[in-house]
Formats: sequence, C-alpha cells, structure tokens
Amino acid sequence: MALKLNNLPFQSNTYPSFALPPMASLRSPKFFMASTLSSGSKEVESIKKPFTPPREVHVQVMHSMPPQKIEIFKSLEDWAEDNILVHLKPVEKCWQPQDFLPDPASDGFDEQVRELRARAKEIPDEYFVVLVGDMITEEALPTYQTMLNTLDGVRDETGASPTSWAIWTRAWTAEENRHGDLLNKYLYLSGQVDMRQIEKTIQYLIGSGMDPRTENSPYLGFIYTSFQERATFISHGNTARLAKEHGDMKLAQICGIIAADEKRHETAYTKIVEKLFEIDPNGTILALEDMMRKKISMPAHLMYDGRDDNLFENFSAVAQRLGVYTAKDYADILEFLVGRWQVEKLTGLSGEGQKAQEYVCGLPARIRRLEERAQARAKQATIKPFSWIFDREVKL
Ligand SMILES: [Fe+2]
Ligand SMILES: [Fe+2]
Repeated sequence: MALKLNNLPFQSNTYPSFALPPMASLRSPKFFMASTLSSGSKEVESIKKPFTPPREVHVQVMHSMPPQKIEIFKSLEDWAEDNILVHLKPVEKCWQPQDFLPDPASDGFDEQVRELRARAKEIPDEYFVVLVGDMITEEALPTYQTMLNTLDGVRDETGASPTSWAIWTRAWTAEENRHGDLLNKYLYLSGQVDMRQIEKTIQYLIGSGMDPRTENSPYLGFIYTSFQERATFISHGNTARLAKEHGDMKLAQICGIIAADEKRHETAYTKIVEKLFEIDPNGTILALEDMMRKKISMPAHLMYDGRDDNLFENFSAVAQRLGVYTAKDYADILEFLVGRWQVEKLTGLSGEGQKAQEYVCGLPARIRRLEERAQARAKQATIKPFSWIFDREVKL
C-alpha cells in the first residue's frame, strides 16, 4: 500500500509529505540514484538508463542494531513458532483469487465477465486510479520479501531456511501474492484501465525497490511492517466501502477479503513488536521514535509510469481526497500502535528512552493539528491525467 499524505509542515522542516524522506525534493528524474553502499555516501550521478526510474537520495544507514541483539531473535525462535506462525492460514483453508473471479473453464464465463464489466462501468475514474495504485503496490511484492530479508537475525538465509522467522516471511509472501493477483485480474477484466501502462508501472517499481530506512534492524523492520499492514488494512477496507457505495458488491468483497488478510498480518507483526517492548523496552521505544522521526515511507513511494514524475504524489492525493488513505489515518495508526504497545505505561526507561516515549505519545495529536492547518490552507484542487486510465483526467 502506498500513499502520500498532504503537504504538511512537520517537525522543523517542511517535507513534501509523510511518505517522502527529506531529500526527496533533490531527486531529479533519471539522473540521481540512492546510493546503497554505506552510510556517509552521498548523491551520485548515475548514467541515464532506460530502466532507472526517479530515485530519492539520502544517506542510507546499515546494520544499526548492535550485533549482540541478534541473539534476542535467535532466542525467540520457539516463541515465534507458537505465537506468530499461528497467524498464518493453512493453504487449504485460504481463499484464492479464482474464488472471486469469473471461472474461465465454465460455460458462464462470458456472461460473468459481461456482468463484471457492466458493474465496473458505473465506477468513477478516480476510484480506479486508487484501486490501480493499490494493486501496483501489492504487485511489488518481490521488493517487500527482499526488504524482510535485509533484517539481521530474522532473514531467510538460504531461501528455504527452517527457522520460524524464515517460515513466516515465505508464507507471508505467499499469502500476500494473492492480493496483487486478484486485483490485477479484476482490473484486467474490468476493461476500464490501460493494462499496459499499469504493467509498465509495476516493472518500474520492482526495478526501483523501496527505501524504508529500516537499517537491517528487525526492531525498525517490524515497526515498519506493523504500520504498513494496518495502513493496507485501512485502505483496502475503504476501497471495499466505496465499491459498495458504487453498487459493486463483488468488488467490495474482493477488497474486503484482502483487508481481512492485512488485519491478520498486522496482528502478527504488532505481536512481535509487543514482545520486543517486553524484552527490551528501551531499545524498542528508541526504534519507534526513530521510525516516526524518519516517517513511515510508503512501499510504493518510488512509483513511476514512464511519464509522470509525480505519479506517487498524484495517486496519493486522489486517495486522500476519496478518503481511502489520509493524513488522519496516519495519525490514527500511530495512536492505535501506541495504545496497542502500551507505550504510555512503559517504565524503567533511560533518560533518552523517556524522551522518546514523550515524543511518540504526543505525536498523533501533533500530526492532527498540522493536518488541520494544512487543510485550512489547501489550494483549489487541480486536475491531472493518469496514464493508467488512458490519460483521462482526475481531480487531485
Ligand atoms: Fe497485501
Ligand atoms: Fe500486507
């Protein structure tokens, strides 16, 4: 799920959005690449390559978790088996995309497709822009599996590692894979979108990767995934609600069933972080503060379709306007997580830990205040064409 929020002045700087790191404004399409080599690296001018989408530039910190903390995750192997793997669903009990799509082997296929297309015709372009953005985000799944496997102490070392952490990551990926498949096939059949442009965007996005700034640390990584799973739960839930409002119960069911998976994944990831708070409250509150100061960048923030250098921002603006994912949701997620992890009740923290606790607990209210001010200043909505819908224009 990938969304940008409104332009909000936040902390001491004015960032273009929560979704973009501070240096994003330096990006120049196709000429700068994020250097991935080591901390302290600076922007480098890359050779213009046809497969290089716009990149963001900032220092990338690596392996920030002290190596001795890797032991914590090794010692949690059995705990993860009993407490985390139980949130996976056995394959035989899982829904599959085919359960929600016309059956190409049945005589009724043509008729079912005609009905699907008739329903899709009643849905406005702006909805499709958001649904396409959500689908593209889901389709960049290889990037998210890669991201999880950057995390020290929990990565899948072989590709078929028997550790609980590796089993989780592979099975999580396998569950998530159904999301992009289902939305992709639905959108293909709908006839309302430019599949070739969408497919190009997916190719660019996977080639581009993502930069969640989790520094190989499972503390940061699992805070990030907790946030993200809840963000996707909210946004798929909202596309379900809107589909229903547009009279398409079948599409509502599609979005709803995906949202339910996201909720289950959120439960697992938040449980991991809850455990970290129990074992290492100080280290975990500092990690939460760190992620929140950097802001949670959305997984598809490097999205590009070969044409629109502000595609992600434009898509996010439509999602914000339709109420699919908003600045308020960002604050709500943080507030929810702070409550879920009982951050306010943490005791025995270091001075630094107490400051982090104070910062994190005060942040949701702060974000909301800034959001209200930004709304008050909001300019007239502009109109943009989206290649995903054959350059038809949509209000941002
Ligand atoms: Fe998903
Ligand atoms: Fe997810």
